[in-house]
Amino acid sequence: MTDNRRDNDIETTLIHGVPGPPDGYGATLPPLVYSTAFEHDSAEDMEAVFMDRQPGHIYSRLQNPTVQKFEERISASLAARGTLAVASGMSAITLGLLAMLKAGDEIAVGKYLFGGSYSLFTRTLPDLGITAQFFDPRSPEAAAELITPKTKGVFLEAVANPAMVVPDFSAYREICEGAGIPLLADASLLTPYLFDADRLGVDLAFFSASKYIAGPASTVGGLIVDTGRFPWHERERFDFGDLKRLGEQAYLTKLRKLLMAGVGPALAPMNAFLLLLGLDSLPLRMDRQSENAQAVAEFLQGHSRVRQVLYPGLPDDEFHHISKAQFKNNCGAVAAFRLADKAACFSFLNRLRLVKRAVNLGDTKSIALHPASTIYGTFWPHEQEQLGVTEDMIRLSVGLESPADIIADLDQALRA
Ligand SMILES: Cc1ncc(COP(=O)(O)O)c(C=O)c1O
Repeated sequence: MTDNRRDNDIETTLIHGVPGPPDGYGATLPPLVYSTAFEHDSAEDMEAVFMDRQPGHIYSRLQNPTVQKFEERISASLAARGTLAVASGMSAITLGLLAMLKAGDEIAVGKYLFGGSYSLFTRTLPDLGITAQFFDPRSPEAAAELITPKTKGVFLEAVANPAMVVPDFSAYREICEGAGIPLLADASLLTPYLFDADRLGVDLAFFSASKYIAGPASTVGGLIVDTGRFPWHERERFDFGDLKRLGEQAYLTKLRKLLMAGVGPALAPMNAFLLLLGLDSLPLRMDRQSENAQAVAEFLQGHSRVRQVLYPGLPDDEFHHISKAQFKNNCGAVAAFRLADKAACFSFLNRLRLVKRAVNLGDTKSIALHPASTIYGTFWPHEQEQLGVTEDMIRLSVGLESPADIIADLDQALRA
């Protein structure tokens, strides 16, 4: 846990974090501590660490020094109350929700979602007695109408994958504050660099670290960030039992001590180390990839074979102004576009030479896929429709290559 303070700009904090104890070597990189177990000087010390009376490490499913460095770097960059790093973006969302929801609870959810999150809300959580109520994130009033005494939060994708819908966070912040419930956002497409969760009024932010943080797609990982805005212990809707005595740390403590201990999706130390390396160049990559995406989206918009481009960077996009205002004048580097039909999408994908046919985004390499036949392939047609996924849609994650080369490849593939 870091103190709730950010002295430097985020570009600096993502590289330097907060000063830690000397490692004895003067190494400029954090130590990679590959150990599951940690020895204690005495049985008394061991008890004190277990009982939280003394800092220390116990076992790497609960916390590891390298993973902790990664968590502290994220907390410092977002001036957050605390962060838990886990094995994947999906385990971050699942664990983060399980720490605040129980059978009988409801959660209001923006209906445009990544496929894994949609499955979680419509398949897994209902089996546990938790109901997701969907609304169109364009309409905060629709979300407000769904809130009942059983509603425990509002969940949104900051830029919906792949529908590219962007909610107006100030409206949701007001609704959640009025109802005394937390505002939750998955900002994987933006990363902590572009998504200043606290300023936007978000209480819990989720990030798939597998995307831009990892960069060249080396590592799967996820983050749960408690920004520090929500007074968990003071809200009647949340019952933290004994942990209530920990005050504002009740949620994070439950997350680590119960959920992490009991479910166990630990981030491996090596993966935390690779993700820490990714943080150094994250702003540079995000800015360049977004610039490339802007050039690519403009090219696609002018192409006769492309029926529609969904990218908030385009001046006539429905979410252009809100995206620029909320995300540091940046619109990210993922776009979607529509061709004539599924056959045209497949023919386009099959002709690509530089852009990869793969299931990832945020990679340094440009990547394209057909969402309807892959990530969303097992959902019913009415579900695909709800998610904004159509048969004629391609999702494109724009990488770090020269924009001229990306555009040349797209152009030759579109000519088919
Ligand atoms: C918006 C969003 N959230 C969550 C995830 C899941 O992340 P991970 O693959 O790290 O589990 C993804 C993956 O594509 C995503 O796009």
